[in-house]
Amino acid sequence: MNPFKYGQIVTDVDFCPRRSLEKVLKEHIVSGQNVLIEGERRTGKSSLIINTAKEIKNYRILYIDINQVKTLNDLINRITSSLISMDRQTHFFEKLVKVISHLRPSVTIDSYTGNPSISFNANQVIHPKSLDQLLEFIYQEHSNKKNIVVFDEFQDILNLNNYESIVAILRSRIQFHSSMPYIFSGSVRKNMDKIFYDPDSPFFKSAIKMEIGALEKEIFRDYIKDKFLSGKKIIDTGVINAIFLKAEENPGDVQELCNALWSITEYDTTINQIDIEDSMEVIFAREKEFYEHTISLLTNHQLRCLTSIAYLGGKSIQSGEFLEYSGIVHASSIKKAATRLVDLKILYNYKKEYRFNSPFFRSWLLYKKY
Ligand SMILES: Nc1ncnc2c1ncn2[C@@H]1O[C@H](COP(=O)(O)OP(=O)(O)OP(=O)(O)O)[C@@H](O)[C@H]1O
Ligand SMILES: [Mg+2]
Repeated sequence: MNPFKYGQIVTDVDFCPRRSLEKVLKEHIVSGQNVLIEGERRTGKSSLIINTAKEIKNYRILYIDINQVKTLNDLINRITSSLISMDRQTHFFEKLVKVISHLRPSVTIDSYTGNPSISFNANQVIHPKSLDQLLEFIYQEHSNKKNIVVFDEFQDILNLNNYESIVAILRSRIQFHSSMPYIFSGSVRKNMDKIFYDPDSPFFKSAIKMEIGALEKEIFRDYIKDKFLSGKKIIDTGVINAIFLKAEENPGDVQELCNALWSITEYDTTINQIDIEDSMEVIFAREKEFYEHTISLLTNHQLRCLTSIAYLGGKSIQSGEFLEYSGIVHASSIKKAATRLVDLKILYNYKKEYRFNSPFFRSWLLYKKY
């Protein structure tokens, strides 16, 4: 079985330890400190939170993923589902149903697993006060067993129509829950900053920030070597460094490349540099449709801006060299195109630079000589 996992939270043997981050996060959790976890996509934010929380004795984790949440109804639904997964005891479920009884939930029992689930009428108008009551319930339960409340992809709270009042409710409750740690994790930096660093936001400076980047190189190298060894595949440090370079040290992308590398190499073999090129082709084949679709969404200007960033880098996109290479006459048009590429999540801003969300997409553009 391929030991390299990507595109999902990794736990147990799949989780490469990040001792110093785990230690800091653990300390914050046990002292009831609220934490803001920020980092680019696929850097391992969710995995770090889950693995750290699992290690802390006498705490349980209420993990609420609000990725793409659209309505308050949806948010309440996700919180109640997470609560049901967190505590499967009947009396807990009964208490929960009582708290939300005014929302007239439909309770169903899965005939196969016996697990209960709750749903609400999607068209029902839910008052923000319901969120207040639910948070209060979680806090009351915290006095029985300690909870760690995690809101993952928290920036998507901004999708809600009435997000200002919802954020205000969250904040006003959270500040009274001083012994219960809340972890807010997210990756769309601009939006997370709007929530936590805008002085007008109720969340302004309400949580201590932890920045998640690449894994510690030496430890990640050993992890990768060990995984390959499980198939008697030998890989040396130089080849792993070449993988890091291709994947720009992003943990998820490193794992994806290793996964492809594993799939094209035999049992009991030595892996070398040339195998990396072949495994890139595996990734291109897997992603081709998505890349082509992405390209089809772009105007001519946007595509030229993108390919120019692929070739020249995204630091000085309004320089003479960039204008000349891209063939775009006005610097303002380049800026406009780059902004659109960020909106489409193809690029992201890192300090003053435009970077590719996926280093492999960039490699593909270069490979195809776009
Ligand atoms: N500690 C780790 N050990 C091994 N692989 C890791 C680790 N952290 C992250 N990864 C790799 O990165 C992938 C993404 O991890 P995870 O979902 O935790 O990241 P994330 O930052 O929450 O991503 P997203 O921004 O997409 O939510 C994993 O599937 C795995 O391939
Ligand atoms: Mg995540």
